[in-house]
Amino acid sequence: MLNPPLSKKTLFFAAMMLIVLVASIGYWQHLQTDHNTKINQPQLPTKDPTAPITPLKPIANLDPKVVSLGQQLFFDKRLSKDNSLSCASCHNLQTGGDDNMPKSVGINGQIGALNAPTVFNTAYNIRQFWDGRAKSLEEQAQGPIHNPVEMGSNWQEVISKLTFDKAFIKQYKQSFSLPISAQNLAFALATFERSLVLVDSPFDRWLKGDVNAISGQAKRGYEKFKSYGCIACHQGAAVGGGLFEKIGTLNDYFADRGGNITPADLGRYNLTGEEDQRHEFKVPSLRTASMTAPYFHDGSVWQLREAIAKMGWYQLGIKLTPEDIGDIEVFIQSLAGKIPPLEKTP
Ligand code: HEC
Ligand code: HEC
Repeated sequence: MLNPPLSKKTLFFAAMMLIVLVASIGYWQHLQTDHNTKINQPQLPTKDPTAPITPLKPIANLDPKVVSLGQQLFFDKRLSKDNSLSCASCHNLQTGGDDNMPKSVGINGQIGALNAPTVFNTAYNIRQFWDGRAKSLEEQAQGPIHNPVEMGSNWQEVISKLTFDKAFIKQYKQSFSLPISAQNLAFALATFERSLVLVDSPFDRWLKGDVNAISGQAKRGYEKFKSYGCIACHQGAAVGGGLFEKIGTLNDYFADRGGNITPADLGRYNLTGEEDQRHEFKVPSLRTASMTAPYFHDGSVWQLREAIAKMGWYQLGIKLTPEDIGDIEVFIQSLAGKIPPLEKTP
């Protein structure tokens, strides 16, 4: 027993050092993980006919400086190889956050394989892209920049163009204490997108107790949306975006559509190779559906009424009456919040 007090002290010191080490590794890992994982739950939910629609809430604690930098990047054509396209070229924030075309047109006039979804309310998506291959908005932002038929560029090229721009560097330094990197630019883009939650729709005001916020027809449409079972798939605050389902669960969508089945039609199967996920897509949020024609992953349907009728037939095996369709359409129109005026960026 030589000097027991000293060895106790040493032991205590060693324990403290260990705690500090473990805590900093934890913090470092936290910094490395997707900033979006807290919003996107890792567990994929399943169909739930009783899942209620809840009002959309803005995403809390977004740093306004990073939002503003992200907004600037979103409109910056230097993100594409030939400086011809920005994110906003295909995701028009003045309309529904998409391009209102069946398939998007990338650099050199190339036509993509899928319909562009809206960027509004995407913070509420369980995954990004029709097949859900991106786990977060940060990961998603890599897609269009590198996609040869979209922006056809890469981060190295983008960063070298941006770092030539003194005004950009100045704004960047005001927003971030971190170096210009692919990861930080993607974080800025994603942070801006998280600010694009359209709150305060007539339907949400009604949910919160304003009995006159929506019409009697919209209320009937909501009742039908629930009783026919649309809500089993289009559920939660975003009225969709929460699960993956097959198009054509009860009737064969592709046989009726005619034409070839393209690789893009295979949906989630492309990602997993699981036979039962052939033609599975992320159930789209219906919040902005009244503004984002044409519809479906293939952009094949121009009228919201026709999309509703097709959903009744292919997903639920029912022929909706014109009256049902009209009521549901008015309900869907009540789901869209106001598009906020964009902040002025330098
Ligand atoms: C050439 C048109 C085009 C450009 C440019 C473009 N997108 Fe897209 N975007 C699309 C298409 C098409 C999809 C669907 C692709 C898929 O699911 O595989 C998509 C999907 C998305 C999604 C997923 C939405 C969802 O519901 O799954 C987000 C978010 C998004 N884009 C953001 C961006 C950002 C940020 C940029 C700029 C870095 C950008 N887009 C540039 C066409 C475009
Ligand atoms: C079994 C799940 C399921 C049910 C039930 C369902 N849907 Fe869908 N809905 C989907 C999927 C999956 C898609 C995307 C399909 C695609 O693009 O290929 C979709 C797409 C849509 C779209 C197009 C959105 C867009 O942006 O392209 C609308 C509108 C729609 N559904 C409305 C309804 C209505 C109204 C009902 C009830 C009559 C309903 N859905 C029932 C799964 C479902």
